[in-house]
Amino acid sequence: MTSSGDGSDGGLGLGPCPRQVVTPVHTVRIITRMPLLGRRWCVGQITIIITQVVQRRRQPEPDPSFGPCQPNQMSSDPTERPSSERGRCASTQQASEPMESEPMADPMTAKTYGSIFTIWAGCQPLVILSGFEAVKEGLVKHSEMLSGRLVTPFYKAVTKEKGIIFSNGHTWKQQRKFVIVTLRKLGLGKKGVENQIQEEAKQLVETFARANGQPIDPSLPITNSVSNVICALVFGHRYSVDDEDFLKLMKAIETGVTFGGSFFHLLYEGIPWLMKHISWPYKKAFGAVDVVLSYARKETEKHRRQLAEHDPRDFIDYYLLQMEKSKNDPTSTYDDENLAQCISDLFIAGSDTSSYTLLWALLLVMTHPDIQEKIQKEIEDAFGSSQLIGYQGRKNVPYTFAAIHEIQRFKCILSAGNPRVSVQDGNVLGSFIPKGTTVVPDIPSVCYDPKLWETPQKFNPNHFLDKNGHFVDREEFLLFSAGARVCPGKELAKMELFIFLTNLLRAFTFKLPEGVTEVNTEPVLGLTMPPHHYKLCAIPRLSNS
Ligand code: HEM
Repeated sequence: MTSSGDGSDGGLGLGPCPRQVVTPVHTVRIITRMPLLGRRWCVGQITIIITQVVQRRRQPEPDPSFGPCQPNQMSSDPTERPSSERGRCASTQQASEPMESEPMADPMTAKTYGSIFTIWAGCQPLVILSGFEAVKEGLVKHSEMLSGRLVTPFYKAVTKEKGIIFSNGHTWKQQRKFVIVTLRKLGLGKKGVENQIQEEAKQLVETFARANGQPIDPSLPITNSVSNVICALVFGHRYSVDDEDFLKLMKAIETGVTFGGSFFHLLYEGIPWLMKHISWPYKKAFGAVDVVLSYARKETEKHRRQLAEHDPRDFIDYYLLQMEKSKNDPTSTYDDENLAQCISDLFIAGSDTSSYTLLWALLLVMTHPDIQEKIQKEIEDAFGSSQLIGYQGRKNVPYTFAAIHEIQRFKCILSAGNPRVSVQDGNVLGSFIPKGTTVVPDIPSVCYDPKLWETPQKFNPNHFLDKNGHFVDREEFLLFSAGARVCPGKELAKMELFIFLTNLLRAFTFKLPEGVTEVNTEPVLGLTMPPHHYKLCAIPRLSNS
């Protein structure tokens, strides 16, 4: 079934609607319940609908707010939890049993509607690419065509479309290229990023060791360590975890990130013209953005004063030099505003993603002690008890490296792929996608596709090993996305995950606190999804830890 997309079938749109989007399979029509107030409203709804799609995936019963569905839309799926478990707020699991967690997303919708389908927000189409073939075709084969970023009203107000994540066109291309080249340069040399991560891993081990095996919540120490890696890259120095400036910065980033997907955020996206004039719900979020940006500006001024005295040491130094080099170039987008926004982007994109993955990793190894033991043995055999563990070392520990990939697949932290916008007309999987259409690559659908993974709902490092136990770098692993907007921090993140985890698992055995028999394995819903807060005991394994 196809939908015309001209708005006539709902009669709800006030502004002009996009041209026809042909979908070869079923089309879900979403009729919004609130009055429709023009195209800006439609665009704002996209965020709401993405959230609804995510939440609906987790709801066993039809959600009336999702709008009318096809009769077979809620058909049961073999990957769903048994009906006896339905309707619980959060699933809990016996800690003593292996945690065969339910996926965060299931391929239900794609089973019903195919690998490319459209959801309508009034007259605004939202094209979903579901499953590996569709996501790959969209992101890789049509990389340039789908390189645009959806900038919703809230993010437009906050970022002014500067920086890298929420910019488009020439600004995005220039800033992105600069970020990639500079991250590469900063990865080199004795003070390179690998050493910074090793230093942070050492500090993290010491923090855990100070708990003496008593229960601790690992989220703050992990977030601090991961954020300190970005601090070292961007500002050229790390912070002690009780530094006031650092704590203020961390708090501001957390506030900004958790605001994404919240009720007031969605309200702003839905009715920006109204919410712009109501400041109180946004005071905290806009205040947090100001804290990060002013901090970035303050550091930039400090760097500017010292620039002549050093070779470039960090991201800000390189950026200031680039600004100077291109000051007479009329096409240059290197300026203070783009620099401040790039700094903020690196923190926002590079802190929680890696921290959340590490938090899932510790939770998973605690609930799969056999896998934890196997990793520890491999690490010990390869590195002994004191050898410095570098990223090169991954080649000697294929099981561990496979387990890290599996952690990312199994506890996919993305609620969906980041929405892209087509920058030109084109065809994806035989469907015409006009310029300006929002396209969501459904990455979780790839993570849990039973056609791709032997046991998609089980934590199983063998998914990334061949029959000889060698690591297999599978192209279906799309956690960092792909194509023109593939995560530029991918190599850094992989290095972080490897170095932090190997150092932690060499030093400690992680256990749930005594008496804890259940752990919540559901993610906290949001744009990126961490586990719920939990406590662990880090039991020292080595005499020097
Ligand atoms: C486990 C860790 C990480 C994961 C899973 C992850 C994943 C992603 C994903 C899925 C995207 C969206 C790409 C798209 O639009 O399709 C992205 C974008 C981005 N990531 Fe990461 N990321 C991680 C760590 C990092 C780190 C450490 C950095 C920084 C140093 C970083 C910087 C960025 C930036 C700047 C973008 C925006 C790229 C653009 O719009 O062109 N990420 N990341």
